Amino acid sequence: MEKILITGGKKLSGMVKISGSKNASLPILVATLLTDEDCVVKNVPHLQDVETILALLRILGKRISHHNKRIRISSTYRLDSEAPYELVKKMRASILVMGPLLGRLGRVRASLPGGCAIGARPINLHLRGFRKLGAKASFERGYVQLDAPRLHGANIYLDFPSVGATENLMMAATRARGRTVIENAASEPEIKDLANFLNKMGAKIKGAGTNIIEIEGVSVLSGTVHEVIPDRIETGTFMVAAAVTVGNVAIRGADPEHLEAVITKLREAGAKITVNNKEIKVTSGKNLRATDIETIPYPGFPTDMQAQWMVLMSLTKGTSIITETVFENRFLHVGELQRMGSNIQVKGNSAIVKGVPKLSGAPVMATDLRASAALILAALAAEGRTEIFGVHHLDRGYEDIEKKLKRLGARIKRVKE
Ligand code: UD1
Repeated sequence: MEKILITGGKKLSGMVKISGSKNASLPILVATLLTDEDCVVKNVPHLQDVETILALLRILGKRISHHNKRIRISSTYRLDSEAPYELVKKMRASILVMGPLLGRLGRVRASLPGGCAIGARPINLHLRGFRKLGAKASFERGYVQLDAPRLHGANIYLDFPSVGATENLMMAATRARGRTVIENAASEPEIKDLANFLNKMGAKIKGAGTNIIEIEGVSVLSGTVHEVIPDRIETGTFMVAAAVTVGNVAIRGADPEHLEAVITKLREAGAKITVNNKEIKVTSGKNLRATDIETIPYPGFPTDMQAQWMVLMSLTKGTSIITETVFENRFLHVGELQRMGSNIQVKGNSAIVKGVPKLSGAPVMATDLRASAALILAALAAEGRTEIFGVHHLDRGYEDIEKKLKRLGARIKRVKE
């Protein structure tokens, strides 16, 4: 088992380069199932979640070759239609293979993902959409099977702008007969990136990045080359790292347009932020202001930045309220932050954070991906030494995080027990 050791109290300063987006890479890699031709995806981060999706693509019949962050996906003689439990249980995003396989083969069998630490996370919206496109669903031994000899276009309204459902349905609809309209679609930048990739493959998608997406089905998609967008959550995490350590960090290779909510809130809290093309500079003094946030689908404040924001608010003067509206159980980090000295009270889907003058190092356990990032930030700001367990969560979503933090001056190392 591995753990991360951090001795806190060091101001971060210098330059950090942002990696490609995990949440854009996963659906784009999966979308290559829609063609037999070669696809090349560039700027893919080296992460455990990417390894999991590549393992799934191999099982389904794709051949993968890596050259650094450039991945070539080619076809073998077959394309399987089953996403097995062993991989879906590792990573919920594995269910994204349903859309392209259904569109391509007219059938798919996938393990149901079940709940996860941050909420029940059902896939009812995915399934309702697939049914509207003409698929029949049957359930057996924890698997769902979808069959549709030929999908047809449909008007689909999502009760909630689910990122995964929008991506799955968009991919399936590229191969449906006729026109599909997804209303109340998610508008995250990762969805726009996926649509750009699909359009390069020959799909006809309009409106991605807004709440109404129109897809005109086509009969064939071809290979293409694409570079994924920068990771906006990694960017936001480094922005908060600079602020919480009273540091001065230049973040390069980012897309500031994707972070307007986080930039606005950091400025409201008193951090100094300058944006210049693809670079974001964050400089922060002590005594930031307590600033409320509410997580909302894009362009609102991202739920994937909520835990990191809570660390920052733990060290401000005054009281702030953090409200989580996207997931029902995303405060698992609170208990660990309390062990480091935070004063946080959870009431329903809000956390009331009373700022304290300092946090102190402690052994803590990461419970999910973004919670693990929050614990790293808390440890960087805390007095003394923190040991973070459950590091595998971190490796799912942050490329080279220790190396990047070390270059900014952090005292951080990973040790094997
Ligand atoms: C994606 C992101 C994740 C991010 C989340 C919200 C990836 C790989 N992951 O996850 O990092 O935190 O968006 O921005 O891109 N829901 C339903 N029924 C459904 C589908 C979703 O009720 O059929 C609910 C979920 O339980 C959750 C909410 O909708 O409460 C948001 O989920 P969704 O947007 O689907 O998140 P993911 O695509 O799983």
